[in-house]
Amino acid sequence: MKLIFLGPPGAGKGTLALRATDILKVQQISTGSIFRAEMAAKSPLGLKVKSIIDAGKLVDDETTIALVKQRLSQDDVQNGFILDGFPRTIPQAQALDEFCTVDKVVNFDIPDSGVLERLGGRRVCRKCGFNFHMTFNKPSKDDVCDHCGGEVYTREDDKSDAVQKRLEVYREQTAPLINFYREKGLLVDIDAKPMIDEIVVSFKKALGI
Ligand code: AP5
Ligand code: MG
Repeated sequence: MKLIFLGPPGAGKGTLALRATDILKVQQISTGSIFRAEMAAKSPLGLKVKSIIDAGKLVDDETTIALVKQRLSQDDVQNGFILDGFPRTIPQAQALDEFCTVDKVVNFDIPDSGVLERLGGRRVCRKCGFNFHMTFNKPSKDDVCDHCGGEVYTREDDKSDAVQKRLEVYREQTAPLINFYREKGLLVDIDAKPMIDEIVVSFKKALGI
């Protein structure tokens, strides 16, 4: 199955993707995670996008589209994938249409208050990328990942100024994709407010699996 996860920052896209990849036996393609890995490696791409991402703005369409096009040409995603965080602008969605067909677009419905609570408490493992939350899913030992022992840190773009910017960017540039995909008959809405087990149930129901 070929899916897009669409939703505001902190809606829980990455958290559901982790469960959904296991259920569907497909790869997650998170543009945000790819950019963070490039930043950690201090590659030319990482150095180019760091200040943009840290400030909560979007990387330019040309760079992002080229990255996804290349990733989607690889063997391990020919039978399915979850695109987490792409497309995020109408030009990205139009470009995707030219090189790929998706089965469904899962729209994460959550109010700003839920987003702020989730991003405010999020901590991420620097090594394996696992997302913890200081209220909902705390690491057993502060600052240490339960899964790989890596360092658990606060993403630079989870600081409050960057979060406000990300929400603004979402409303202006990403939310129009809801109608774009609804008009194509591809959109399914899920209530992203409950705890993850309940969301997994709605997700399966929405996809009829
Ligand atoms: P990206 O990494 O994609 O960030 P985002 O879309 O802002 O989304 P997040 O990863 O912050 O949130 P999420 O929805 O995955 O939530 P999570 O599961 O972690 O992108 C980062 C940046 O890269 C962008 O700002 C941009 O600069 C750049 N970029 C990426 N893609 C781009 C593109 N296509 N074009 C241009 N630029 C691009 O959950 C959040 C927290 O809540 C966690 O702590 C989690 O534990 C907790 N939580 C999750 N679900 C639940 C639940 N059900 N109950 C309780 N707690 C929960
Ligand atoms: Mg994410």
